[in-house]
Amino acid sequence: MPGIVLVGAQWGDEGKGKVTDLLAERADAVVRFQGGNNAGHTIVRGRQTFKLHLIPSGILHKDTLCVIGNGVVIDPRVLTDELEELRRRRVDTASLRISANAHLIMPYHLMLDHAGEAKLGKLQIGTTRRGIGPCYADKAARLGIRVQDLLDEKILKKKIVAALEPKRLSLRPFAKDPQLDLQTITEEYVTYGHRLAPYIADTVRLVHERLDAGQTVVFEGAQGALLDIDHGTYPFVTSSNPVAGAACVGAGVGPKDIDEVWGVIKAYGTRVGAGPFPTELDGALADEIRERGGEYGTTTGRARRVGWLDLVALRYAARINSLTALAIMKLDVLSGIERICVCTRYRGPEGAEFDYFPYHQTVLHHAGGEYVNLPGWIEDLSDCRDEADLPAAARDYLQFVSDFVGVPIALVGVGPGGDQVIWTQASAGMAGSGWAASATA
Ligand code: GDP
Ligand code: IMO
Ligand code: MG
Repeated sequence: MPGIVLVGAQWGDEGKGKVTDLLAERADAVVRFQGGNNAGHTIVRGRQTFKLHLIPSGILHKDTLCVIGNGVVIDPRVLTDELEELRRRRVDTASLRISANAHLIMPYHLMLDHAGEAKLGKLQIGTTRRGIGPCYADKAARLGIRVQDLLDEKILKKKIVAALEPKRLSLRPFAKDPQLDLQTITEEYVTYGHRLAPYIADTVRLVHERLDAGQTVVFEGAQGALLDIDHGTYPFVTSSNPVAGAACVGAGVGPKDIDEVWGVIKAYGTRVGAGPFPTELDGALADEIRERGGEYGTTTGRARRVGWLDLVALRYAARINSLTALAIMKLDVLSGIERICVCTRYRGPEGAEFDYFPYHQTVLHHAGGEYVNLPGWIEDLSDCRDEADLPAAARDYLQFVSDFVGVPIALVGVGPGGDQVIWTQASAGMAGSGWAASATA
């Protein structure tokens, strides 16, 4: 102990990579527990920017064990490229371990993802087209291919045959694609197996050993609560559970191994892909926030939709995750906006008011936000390192959010750089106590 789960509490891209990197400084292990290379987690170190998709955001700390857990879906082509790129940039990747039980994204999963979206036409989800949904579907159908299968060519081939069989119809348009040739796929994946073999391990045991020795383990989530397949805005969601409970399943630990749950949010809202977004903005202000915040997808480069901070959704996210702390990133982006709106209630098309996140898809699709206007500030925040450095209006904004959601703020982001953070007074008493001291040392 302690186990600290770090999750996105909005629609993804909240700044999880940066916060994980900060916590990893004092952690013994960082474990990714769900999602795949639909994720794009950014770490800015001086003049260098790292964009990680599968490798945990603790990898820049060479003594921190980095685990890709059993709950993750892995495209081995992307993973081997990512490893190669890190090595090229002289990052030591020897501390990486990959769960033998994690499922593999196969070429046909990518094709099915593309085909599925094309078929949906105007109703498409706007997936990252990385094969995530079809891979999790095969896992549930017990037709998945796992990392351990890479190590035995015969088994691998048999499993690919079985997995391909039920897809013949939907894959007919791709019938002649050489990527779907059994021998070609098998050979390609055996090669990945050779390259990844040194990293493949019984990661559940590795994590248990750390926890049992009283060491600190950070469980790094991908995506965000509102993209959760059970609790998000279904069907406009991802195909895994980005909520904190999934850390147990996707890493192989029990609920009692979790001491704290940190929810990462932005000081405003963004969403990439389709689906309801009750506080969405358009026009000049949205463009301004998008440009200032660099709101373009880390994985796909798509422009992110932008909106006001949605406290109805955030309170819901806090409850379903049992958040014990908030990390509020990108506060700097709001400088110069005269009045900042926060959504405290939804109003449905017939005038009904909702203080809580509505379960019904139709309601959510037609709901608009009701707002409290808070005074903005003009000061540039990027050099603030202490709560006292912040303008009063920015402190009041943070206080309002924390009070409304009922969760203390541990950390505030004031720029992309790793040093552009403020550790609050509240962070001192958390399982992360001493983060602040180490960060400023
Ligand atoms: P993740 O998927 O949650 O890890 O987030 P992304 O990396 O996809 O997107 C977050 C973006 O915001 C990245 O470009 C970060 O470098 C950047 N970022 C993180 N924290 C801050 C902050 O406090 N201020 C600003 N301006 N940018 C930040
Ligand atoms: P990180 O970890 C933001 C979105 C996609 C789409 C939906 C389903 O960087 O926060 P999928 O490819 O998962 O089937 O797409 O989920 N999505 C993300 N949005 N950040 C992410 O990851 C995302 N991963 C998936 O845009 O709307
Ligand atoms: Mg991202």
